[in-house]
Amino acid sequence: MHADIRPARATDIDTLVSIENSVFDTDRISRRAFRSHLASGTASLLVSEKDGAIAGYALLLYRKGGKTARLYSIAVANGHASAGVGRGLLAAAEKAAAARGRPILRLEVREDNARAVDLYRRSGFRPIGRRENYYEDGAPALRFEKHLGGSKEQ
Ligand SMILES: CC(C)(COP(=O)(O)OP(=O)(O)OC[C@H]1O[C@@H](n2cnc3c(N)ncnc32)[C@H](O)[C@@H]1OP(=O)(O)O)[C@@H](O)C(=O)NCCC(=O)NCCS
Repeated sequence: MHADIRPARATDIDTLVSIENSVFDTDRISRRAFRSHLASGTASLLVSEKDGAIAGYALLLYRKGGKTARLYSIAVANGHASAGVGRGLLAAAEKAAAARGRPILRLEVREDNARAVDLYRRSGFRPIGRRENYYEDGAPALRFEKHLGGSKEQ
């Protein structure tokens, strides 16, 4: 039951690609992109490990010199859905961003992804806008933001 969250390793990439392909229909992160994020100094790739298996991942990007971190992607393997893995990864992503000196975490999510939107809202993210035609299939994105840490939260 217990999930450990740790930085991804090169040997995790096969699993990350298979999670990506099974949970997203468009805008998938390629193997090559996972590799490049793993080696990047401006990204954090975190995995949640449950009983020795990768249950999900979160990818954060840090633009140089900014105050914000971007939650570029988060996904939980189908077999581990609704068990708190997503919430745990989101909390770990917030911690990683704060530790990196980024007091604001932003993200985009498909407007029709009610489950993810619900997770972000309940975790204290506030809507800050909408982007038309954001995804490969033309779907719009909602943008969310959270101020991290201390009493300034929410
Ligand atoms: C969105 C996602 C990351 C959530 O991960 P998860 O591990 O299944 O979710 P958790 O068990 O941590 O639950 C988090 C919240 O999701 C919602 N949720 C969980 N299971 C749900 C279900 N079966 N139906 C509807 N909402 C559900 C709840 O709001 C829950 O909050 P709660 O803990 O207060 O009840 C996961 O569904 C996923 O990978 N989806 C596909 C990829 C994706 O859409 N990523 C987000 C792109 S921006």
